[in-house]
Amino acid sequence: MDRGVSISPAAVGGGAWAVLLAAGAGERLGIDRPKAFAVLGGRPLLAESLDRLDRSPWVDAIVVAAAPGWEEPSILLSEELATTKVVSCVTGGATRAESVRIALEDVSEDAIVVLVHDAARPLVADTVIERVLGPLAEGFDGVVPALAVPDTIKRVEHGAVVETVSREGLFGAQTPQAFLAPALRRAYAGDLAGATDCASLVERSGGRVAVVEGDRRLLKVTTPEDLALVESWL
Ligand code: CTP
Ligand code: MG
Repeated sequence: MDRGVSISPAAVGGGAWAVLLAAGAGERLGIDRPKAFAVLGGRPLLAESLDRLDRSPWVDAIVVAAAPGWEEPSILLSEELATTKVVSCVTGGATRAESVRIALEDVSEDAIVVLVHDAARPLVADTVIERVLGPLAEGFDGVVPALAVPDTIKRVEHGAVVETVSREGLFGAQTPQAFLAPALRRAYAGDLAGATDCASLVERSGGRVAVVEGDRRLLKVTTPEDLALVESWL
């Protein structure tokens, strides 16, 4: 399999497309499979966000990015969930940004909005999706859900504090992040180096990015402790 698999003919064009990123290795979780297939509430972690996006009235079509070799299980999962919006499952790239770039190739040219979401944040709620879409109608190119940083922030070098950074105005960015499709495509046509989220590339390419209130339950599952915590919230 080289460039991914088409699940159903793309009957959808315009509207809001979701890119669901599940192509990471999940090294810090330390299990024998990608994080997307860690067990959460008795089913693969990917099932939670896939189900939620598929049932969201704000989402018209979904492209899933799976880890190499995990395309088939992802498609099977999508079938088991009886999803109706999954258009394709692509093989992700070496970095998150590369996975986004590959998935964008399967997003319709007519798409108006693209939501990019980490499968590692299983508990995506419609209220947050609605919140990130709002500012796109007010002249913004992108919207990020974020939470104010609660801890005091230190810049550390070789185990010693170099500086205490004022946390005023500092926010931790989450996903789903929403973009006007042309702005996101423009951002991903350039250099992807150093990008840890989509919005940073849109900012770099001159786009205006708004911030809306995030959600504590959008915690990104990184470690086994995170997985247990998210499971307790199900
Ligand atoms: N991701 C991706 N393609 C990559 C790397 C990451 O689609 N090459 C996705 C992950 O599947 C995840 C999101 O980006 O949903 C955030 O990445 P992260 O939490 O770092 O997940 P992993 O890279 O899988 O975990 P680790 O860094 O521990 O290996
Ligand atoms: Mg990673």
